[in-house]
Amino acid sequence: MNTPSTGSATGPRLEAVSADGALALKHLDLPRHAAVLDVGTGSGQFAVYLASQGYRVVTGEPASDQSRYAHRDWAAAARNAGVLDRIRFTPLDASELPFAPESFDAVFFFGVLHHIPEPLRRSALGEALRVAKSGGPAVFFEPRPELLRTVRADDPGHPPAANPSLYLLDPGVQETHIQGSLMDIFIYRRGARKG
Ligand SMILES: C[S@@+](CC[C@H](N)C(=O)[O-])C[C@H]1O[C@@H](n2cnc3c(N)ncnc32)[C@H](O)[C@@H]1O
Repeated sequence: MNTPSTGSATGPRLEAVSADGALALKHLDLPRHAAVLDVGTGSGQFAVYLASQGYRVVTGEPASDQSRYAHRDWAAAARNAGVLDRIRFTPLDASELPFAPESFDAVFFFGVLHHIPEPLRRSALGEALRVAKSGGPAVFFEPRPELLRTVRADDPGHPPAANPSLYLLDPGVQETHIQGSLMDIFIYRRGARKG
């Protein structure tokens, strides 16, 4: 069996990120140059992936985060991939996003929800759906057990995966679950469309 490689302490290699990213994007039907929000920048793997698909990406993480997963050199990864001009960084907290309602065609949390303290996760879900356009998706990627085992070899205290559906407040939200190779993918939409 192939064990997924983490590539760094922050997550899987870009090719594995791309495979699970592509799986999700197939369900989303986003406009070509969609404006998207990537919450939890980390080393920038998912922001770079989204920008490489032609999207205009805003990404951020809390300025106060002192963990090993924050304040990484995401800009170097973006520069290497030739997509730095499509990514804008701003400090943010998922539980209180500094954006107007319906600012983005889609909102992504790639390997992030389980790093957010439990009492703030409901707000994070609510905020993701608030800043996504009506019918636009909020997409959460959470690590599958095999990836978690690999990550924990390097970071034994790494938190367990979160199930975002436990933190949904609005019963009118539609949800779709897809099993990726490294990540479980949860897609939520307010409004009529199903992912
Ligand atoms: C493992 S990294 C995510 C990997 C990253 N998405 C990538 O593609 O490389 C976890 C991220 O969650 C962020 N994070 C933790 N708590 C957060 C919060 N309350 N709001 C937003 N981001 C948060 C951390 O700062 C870090 O950037």
